[in-house]
Amino acid sequence: MNVNGAEASLPDDPRVSLLDMLRDHLSLPGTKKGCNQGACGACTVLVDGERILSCLALAVQYEGRSITTIEGLGQPGQLHPIQKAFVQHDGFQCGYCTPGQICSAVGMLAEVERGVPSHVTGVLETVMLTREEMRERMSGNLCRCGAYNGIIDAIADELEAESHAEAAQ
Ligand code: FES
Ligand code: FES
Repeated sequence: MNVNGAEASLPDDPRVSLLDMLRDHLSLPGTKKGCNQGACGACTVLVDGERILSCLALAVQYEGRSITTIEGLGQPGQLHPIQKAFVQHDGFQCGYCTPGQICSAVGMLAEVERGVPSHVTGVLETVMLTREEMRERMSGNLCRCGAYNGIIDAIADELEAESHAEAAQ
């Protein structure tokens, strides 16, 4: 498997979750273990650009796939635009849930770009990323301190920046 652009070998033990492999075998502690049962979103990573809960995934299932963790999205001094937007809007708060929130936001924006509808999408043919859509699509990621409004502002801001950049091309 490829993790953040580097080849990584699968664990010998087929019971190792993708989350444990990332944290314990590859020393990538950015992906957090919150509930370890699929309820909090802290362990969200991207697999070939799609978001998944790594605590519910066995590492061996992902042979040949490309995994991106928060460490692969951006680095200090070279933040991903979503990371910058989170900082700007106070969505970037505790280190525990923020990595999952950011990976989830990146995956979510890609889903919308592909036209994937959500539970609250009205017209299935044209997915508009309203605040209601964002809230619904980010609802798998919990934030116990309540930074939700900052998180939604950050995503909305980044979306606006992207559409301005597209319009300018
Ligand atoms: S640790 Fe995976 S969803 Fe909570
Ligand atoms: S930012 Fe982590 S609990 Fe709110």
